[in-house]
Amino acid sequence: MKIGILGSGVVATSLARGFLAHGHQLTLGTRDRSKLEGWHAENPEGAIGTFADAARFGELLVLAVKGTAATDALRAAGIANLAGKPVIDATNPIADAPPVNGVLRFFTNLDESLMERLQREFPDARLVKAFNSVGNASMVAPTFRGGKPTMFICGNDESAKKTVTGILDQFGWETADMGAVEAARAIEPLCMLWCIPGFLRQDWVHAFKLLG
Ligand SMILES: NC(=O)c1ccc[n+]([C@@H]2O[C@H](COP(=O)([O-])OP(=O)(O)OC[C@H]3O[C@@H](n4cnc5c(N)ncnc54)[C@H](OP(=O)(O)O)[C@@H]3O)[C@@H](O)[C@H]2O)c1
Repeated sequence: MKIGILGSGVVATSLARGFLAHGHQLTLGTRDRSKLEGWHAENPEGAIGTFADAARFGELLVLAVKGTAATDALRAAGIANLAGKPVIDATNPIADAPPVNGVLRFFTNLDESLMERLQREFPDARLVKAFNSVGNASMVAPTFRGGKPTMFICGNDESAKKTVTGILDQFGWETADMGAVEAARAIEPLCMLWCIPGFLRQDWVHAFKLLG
């Protein structure tokens, strides 16, 4: 597939590695090309450009920017370039405030997630929450003693979730579909839980698994 990734950080480049390893074509988007020039030198098969370039290129998009900038990044990508496309939303609504005893602070609340805000503002984008509840080092080909981990996803569009489930299969995850966009109220805070052992004990190597 043609993949457009909005972002230049560790999530964008970790997922890019996975997409390239599985033979997808991709463009990474940023406001500042210099941030991606080192990555591009090591990965010449991938392209770099603006947020709009990445969004225009992709049949499947990935939103991998700071949560506070998610709306601005999608606006910069261009509404027409988002229309009808599945968009993996890996963002978390982390506030610009320090954690409390290892617990991150969010700028959303339990009755309204970031993905709901984004879906409302960009109704023609087919948003799917995924990859937000694990560290970037484990996003592709995760290996854990406890077996294949679970990625919780949600979104309003069944076919977009099917596309994203296909990518999660390739990347080595089992997928648990938690339903429509409102489920992001529960999935986004998994990031808080995932980070606590890291902040408290420097333990950043784990993932969630749903047991039947
Ligand atoms: N780090 C992890 O392991 C991890 C794991 C799961 C989920 N997440 C979530 O994934 C997202 C990306 O995380 P990250 O650690 O890779 O990077 P990050 O530092 O949270 O975000 C970097 C990206 O945000 C963009 N950005 C920042 N301010 C902006 C603004 N005012 N307008 C437009 N874009 C702006 C930057 O754009 P430029 O390229 O233009 O500078 C850059 O691409 C976050 O929402 C994070 O919570 C992170």
